[in-house]
Amino acid sequence: MTHTPMFAHAFKSPLLRFGIAAAAAGLLALSAQGANAQFKGPEYSTDVKNSSGRDLDVLQDEVKGYNDLFKNGKKFEEISAEAQVARMGAGINWGGYDGWWTGGKTTFNPDKDIPRMKAAGFTTLRVPLMAFHHIVDTKGDMDPKYLEKIDEVVAAAVKNNMDVILDEHDFDDCAKDTDACAVLLPNVWYDLSERYKSAPNNVIFELLNEPHGAIDDKVWNDWLSGLIGIVRQTNPKRNIIIGPVMWNSVDQLDKLKLPADDRHIIVTFHYYSPMEFTHQGASWVGGAIEQGRNVRWTGTPDQMAKLNADFDKAAAWGKANNRPIFLGEYGTYGKFNPNMDDRVAWTHAVSKAADDRGFARAYWYYSDGDGFGVYDPDKGQWVQPLLNALLPKGH
Ligand code: BGC
Repeated sequence: MTHTPMFAHAFKSPLLRFGIAAAAAGLLALSAQGANAQFKGPEYSTDVKNSSGRDLDVLQDEVKGYNDLFKNGKKFEEISAEAQVARMGAGINWGGYDGWWTGGKTTFNPDKDIPRMKAAGFTTLRVPLMAFHHIVDTKGDMDPKYLEKIDEVVAAAVKNNMDVILDEHDFDDCAKDTDACAVLLPNVWYDLSERYKSAPNNVIFELLNEPHGAIDDKVWNDWLSGLIGIVRQTNPKRNIIIGPVMWNSVDQLDKLKLPADDRHIIVTFHYYSPMEFTHQGASWVGGAIEQGRNVRWTGTPDQMAKLNADFDKAAAWGKANNRPIFLGEYGTYGKFNPNMDDRVAWTHAVSKAADDRGFARAYWYYSDGDGFGVYDPDKGQWVQPLLNALLPKGH
């Protein structure tokens, strides 16, 4: 297939202003301005200026709280990818879908919810970011108010001694239009890596959630070297998270090509198997799975054997390739699944499978009403059986 080589331009041509309006037309639900963003390659990377010509440090100074957080506060210290994964332990996802980011309907309050996660026993917060939708001008800059929101979440996590993953989560847009993604994704990483370059090592970057669709292994491996290069200009030692194609499938790990000399990479996979069980009723999956009802998972010998085989595969790959592993998403959709005992059994078995092999992990999802959530904001309480299944002390 043909695709836009994402970064060839950034490092080889003197200056490329790369408009993508045509590629984006009709395909992406991006903001009109975002879809017209221009590539920030060489001028940005060499001068450490953004494409509006303003010095980024000055820009950052303008942002309330930024200095306190990352410049005068805790400093970045190198930590190996292995040590980071050991520290990450049991994590939880919360982020970009929440109305909190856009001033929409929300119950989320970082100063309450993040301490609540920590008090329950979670040590890592993975934050999906729909950053493409917050690109506000044709130069590819992100809305400063949006960046402040990210600061706020990062600050609350750091304050609570949690690791915090900034996960670029525009994966569906990227799968539909690789040309647009080839511009927007590096733009986002130029901005985020510059902004958080002095942040403590609690902050980890995840380059793209679940590459799939038009992003096959060839495209992804090609993009990766460029994306890693962008981050490494400002964050040479920060740990970053990268997963394989096909929605971060364990079966695609073998196709992932990583720079052997970059030791600050954590490899991720997601686990929702069997989909017929975890996603029964899910409209976004469609087909028989959407129609599925009362599909059971009780931890039969066959079910456990499949689970262990999948996790052994991830562990073997990690060992052979000398990379620590992070299970970045796993969970069960509850709206059409009446069997809480099954959900608990699966959640416990998957959490334990990860813990037994030394993987860090993050449950999908903190709080989303009747979907996957382990915290019920309406009742103001944890869904206790699910929470028990998630925490190491329950194993
Ligand atoms: C997606 C969510 C989805 C979840 C489980 C995540 O990666 O962003 O929209 O609910 O996977 O399917």
